[in-house]
Amino acid sequence: MSAETPPGTSPADGTTPDPATVPDPAESATARSAVSRERIARDLAAVPRSPGAPKPDPIIVADGVRRTFGGIHAVDVEHLEVQRGAITALIGPNGAGKTTLFNLLTGFDRADAGTWSFEGRQVQGKAAARMAGLGMVRTFQLTKALSRMTVMDNMRLGAVDQRGETVLGSLLPWLWRAQEAEITERARELLERFKLGDKADDFAGSLSGGQRKLLEMARALMTRPTMVMLDEPMAGVNPALTQSLLGHIQALRDEGMTVLFVEHDMHMVRHISDWVVVMAEGRTVAEGPPGTIMQDQAVVDAYLGAHHDTDLGDDALLEEGAADQYEAEAEAEEATK
Ligand SMILES: Nc1ncnc2c1ncn2[C@@H]1O[C@H](COP(=O)(O)OP(=O)(O)O)[C@@H](O)[C@H]1O
Ligand SMILES: [Mg+2]
Repeated sequence: MSAETPPGTSPADGTTPDPATVPDPAESATARSAVSRERIARDLAAVPRSPGAPKPDPIIVADGVRRTFGGIHAVDVEHLEVQRGAITALIGPNGAGKTTLFNLLTGFDRADAGTWSFEGRQVQGKAAARMAGLGMVRTFQLTKALSRMTVMDNMRLGAVDQRGETVLGSLLPWLWRAQEAEITERARELLERFKLGDKADDFAGSLSGGQRKLLEMARALMTRPTMVMLDEPMAGVNPALTQSLLGHIQALRDEGMTVLFVEHDMHMVRHISDWVVVMAEGRTVAEGPPGTIMQDQAVVDAYLGAHHDTDLGDDALLEEGAADQYEAEAEAEEATK
């Protein structure tokens, strides 16, 4: 029996695990992340570190994507490929065109020119609801209207609003009820996973900043997407929830989803991304793995050209113990309210 094996000794046949080494669920999630991260790093090892680099298994391939506002070339991307199953970060100084490119790819804005494919299918010009139906979803900020709804109703809406209202409305009533039960069950599962299970009946507006971000992510997963797009998932999040959000994003990748996120927090980019695409003045100016990208001269120039005081990656926030410290501070703050 493994329970009778003295700690520190391995059974002779080597088949029974030492109870001291049986991982707890949180540790195995971390281990799983490390494994998928290593595998993806190997897949991307031979990819040239240059803008527009072809990928071994791209889920998005874009060409000549342009968007101008007045005279400004907000986006002018020659070629871009996003690797399937990886976490890709889109970074760059303010005004670089990150959000505009994100909006074009997700169907929330129309390009002036360009073609792009998702899962091998040409999708330029397709509306957001159509993109969601094909498996690409994005998170939405909690609007005023959504804040006045319960957390559960936000989740239920997540199942339909990205695909368009007509889908459920056109179904026969008994089918609709069956589907509704399934939707509610899926919502409950996701709320548990994002530690929002006991908030289901609360108004979404009563959630903390970090919990709102979790709800936004949970809601996006209602349609079982293959690709999740996140625009600044960490903006306004209390440091105590940073680690938890990072873990949730990595878990998406570990389950086989592709993640593309826009972010200017370099700590987060270095900590979780498999590949980084750098934009400046509408163009992609550099690409590479997170460990080396900040040494690229084009990247340094892009940031320093825009704002000289940019912190290019002090990892203090993610050092061991820092999260606990922030959490303790946050709790102390709560207690004094
Ligand atoms: N709706 C809009 N109308 C006019 N100009 C816009 C609009 N959206 C973005 N821009 C301009 O396009 C450029 C890129 O903006 P954006 O994509 O928001 O950059 P980022 O997300 O990288 O900060 C900026 O110069 C911005 O002012
Ligand atoms: Mg932006």
